[in-house]
Amino acid sequence: MSRTALITGASSGIGRATAALLVARGWTVVGTSRAPERIPPDERVPGVEYVALDVADPASVEALAGRLKDVDALVNNAGQSHAGPLEDLPQDVLRRLFEINVFAPVRLAQLALPAMRERGSGRIVMVGSMNASFPMAYRSLYIATKAAIKGFAEAARAEYAPFGVWLTTVEPGSISTGISERRVTDIAPGSPHHADYETLLDHMRRIERAGPVPEKIAEVIVRALEADRPRQFYALGSGAPWVFLVQRLIPRSLMAKATNRKFGLKR
Ligand SMILES: NC(=O)c1ccc[n+]([C@@H]2O[C@H](COP(=O)([O-])OP(=O)(O)OC[C@H]3O[C@@H](n4cnc5c(N)ncnc54)[C@H](OP(=O)(O)O)[C@@H]3O)[C@@H](O)[C@H]2O)c1
Repeated sequence: MSRTALITGASSGIGRATAALLVARGWTVVGTSRAPERIPPDERVPGVEYVALDVADPASVEALAGRLKDVDALVNNAGQSHAGPLEDLPQDVLRRLFEINVFAPVRLAQLALPAMRERGSGRIVMVGSMNASFPMAYRSLYIATKAAIKGFAEAARAEYAPFGVWLTTVEPGSISTGISERRVTDIAPGSPHHADYETLLDHMRRIERAGPVPEKIAEVIVRALEADRPRQFYALGSGAPWVFLVQRLIPRSLMAKATNRKFGLKR
């Protein structure tokens, strides 16, 4: 029998590529978008059932409770990127990013887990970010949200493994999806950080454009969904897996310096 996966944010980028690969591999796929009716026909993946979900709206998340009881796999992919100096982060932006990148994926997992546990099988993938493993300046809010979902997945993994339900974090490096164009940015006029911040944005755009196509990270997500015993953690892009090895071998301060330097920031 065909397995069913629900992928949040399936209208573009990594979510769409994952939906396409799962359909090709015989899965039944439910994909979410804030406005499924607005996905252009040529960007729809044939075979995917599109449903509405706004991860910024807790009521919209709760409305998926019924669907989540029936899924074999949940891919928490929908997310929002952000950049800005810590002191300039507006409170509403801070809360909204946690709503989108943390509270919604955690709640969706809570809604899926009981039925998975009772069936004795299930897979949940949190799409994090390699930025959470290699923190850098002006991304503190985004990095904090991605570190948070990794924390939930890594800790809860040991709660569900005995029931045949596996939680996994997949950390993409810079993947060429156009996410840079949709990034929310906050910097105060006259900020002393302006020059460095613009340097960072420019490097991020260029590195993202040169990154792997989303189909590559979709392969990793699908590997995690189809493995008998998925690993706790996968990463692809931005030098993974080698940079993780280097991170274990050199002092933290040197790694932090190298990470910031990659984005043009001399620290
Ligand atoms: N691309 C990268 O370099 C990169 C690197 C590290 C991590 N990631 C993570 O990978 C995930 C996917 O990124 P991507 O590059 O594929 O981004 P993307 O192309 O911008 O796609 C984001 C998806 O999330 C959905 N989305 C955005 N806000 C939403 C909201 N409030 N409610 C519901 N859905 C929402 C969008 O759907 P609608 O607009 O149709 O609602 C879209 O399908 C994100 O979690 C991102 O943080 C990406």
